[in-house]
Amino acid sequence: MTTDPTKPNMFRDMSSCNTYNYGDALYWDARYVQEAGSFDWYQRYSALRPFVRNYIPTSSRVLMVGCGNALMSEDMVKDGYEDIMNIDISSVAIDMMSKKNEDIPQLKYMKMDVRDMSFFPDDSFDSVIDKGTLDSLMCGTEAPVSATQMLGEVSRLLKPGGIYMLITYGDPKVRMVHLNRPVYCWKTELYIIPRPGFEKPGSCSSSMKSYLEPIPITEDGLLPADFVLEDPDSHFIYVCKKMNHSDLSNLPTYPLSANVL
Ligand SMILES: C[S@@+](CC[C@H](N)C(=O)[O-])C[C@H]1O[C@@H](n2cnc3c(N)ncnc32)[C@H](O)[C@@H]1O
Repeated sequence: MTTDPTKPNMFRDMSSCNTYNYGDALYWDARYVQEAGSFDWYQRYSALRPFVRNYIPTSSRVLMVGCGNALMSEDMVKDGYEDIMNIDISSVAIDMMSKKNEDIPQLKYMKMDVRDMSFFPDDSFDSVIDKGTLDSLMCGTEAPVSATQMLGEVSRLLKPGGIYMLITYGDPKVRMVHLNRPVYCWKTELYIIPRPGFEKPGSCSSSMKSYLEPIPITEDGLLPADFVLEDPDSHFIYVCKKMNHSDLSNLPTYPLSANVL
């Protein structure tokens, strides 16, 4: 991962997973001490807005997990969102962001580990947004355990009918096995968008409209065999809706494979 936010690959992914300890609070504290400005991983709100506005009403109580120093929550407030609780494991990020936004009553900040959000009672939120935080945990030690802890907490905190929106570099092969545990009771839709600045080689770029269509996921939790990923560094948006157990009885589950990170 670059530490220079002006470099284009800032949007890309966590391909340096093995080089940096993204699962470690100390890593993030040190990084936020060095980078006092703002930095949005993967995508800015402007690109995500069609998805966010479609699934998350502005009156929703939103939990932003692993907010970092991204502008996402501020941009959402400018767009009409009324109540966003931001949490992060880094006290440096939380101190910085709560000071910066102390005059914005719609934004609240708390230092918290997504693997233990017991501070909040069950069914506390209409929506949980995760841009790059599950990805961080997947880079840490005990990644599958951390993912299960985090997603179990997200499921617990969502009201019935609530939405978990995950923005990640992880394709369905490596994410659906985690998202599709029956205990969460999530019905998942998938969207794929190219990284910012991506230009389709040789021709005019696809219209944004085509990215707004959900991508079917096979019964094995994979992309359709004939699906072509225009940008190999695309970002995946999983929209998981918390259902009643009875509604989910006909949905497939995906077997865990060895290579799920
Ligand atoms: C890749 S950054 C994404 C930041 C921000 N969401 C964005 O879109 O720019 C991952 C964030 O997750 C936070 N994080 C990592 N592990 C965490 C944990 N266990 N609990 C809460 N936050 C965590 C990091 O401190 C960091 O701010």
